[in-house]
Amino acid sequence: MLRSKTNRFVIVLGRQSDPRFLCAIPAGFPYLCSFWLRYIPPSYNGRFLLSADIAFAFGSIPASVEGRRVIPSEVTYVNVGDGGLRTAMQGRGGSAPIEGHPTPRRLRHMEALVRFFSDGLILDPFLGSGTTAVAAKKLGRHFLGFEISPEYCKIAEERIALVEAQPNLFEKKAEQLVLSR
Ligand SMILES: C[S@@+](CC[C@H](N)C(=O)[O-])C[C@H]1O[C@@H](n2cnc3c(N)ncnc32)[C@H](O)[C@@H]1O
Repeated sequence: MLRSKTNRFVIVLGRQSDPRFLCAIPAGFPYLCSFWLRYIPPSYNGRFLLSADIAFAFGSIPASVEGRRVIPSEVTYVNVGDGGLRTAMQGRGGSAPIEGHPTPRRLRHMEALVRFFSDGLILDPFLGSGTTAVAAKKLGRHFLGFEISPEYCKIAEERIALVEAQPNLFEKKAEQLVLSR
């Protein structure tokens, strides 16, 4: 069912990750483009300078609509706030400072991916602290997420609740379901 309803995949990898992971993408999803998700400032992991993640998009070309006429090649994180959470740069890998999760992604990055590549329902199978869900909520998209850790599910649910408590921040109401396995 999921396969027949899916029209696009976006895979986010650290810039030092092996892109051969991408061979798992079904052949029916043609390569679309990449986004450079830059961190400011970068951090280190061994000998690697972690300055960015790379998002690889596959599937159908998104419709050109108001607010997404031209798909950018880079999204630079700027310190504009994170759904009411702390905004100081800290944590590992240049990721956002979300208490209780080791590798949360930047909300600004996930917002850009949601804006440019989603039309209907978004599925994040590795929800973590719920950054994709928060971005989906803020942009009025429907959302489904899976997270194996009940503690991380709780963090995600709390972040989603924070966005819901600020209804003026998003255009339309979206639904979400956070599942723990
Ligand atoms: C890199 S983190 C995701 C971070 C997330 N984008 C955020 O901003 O917080 C990957 C997450 O996948 C979860 N995970 C790992 N294996 C899983 C599985 N089989 N099913 C569901 N979640 C899984 C981990 O617990 C972890 O929270």
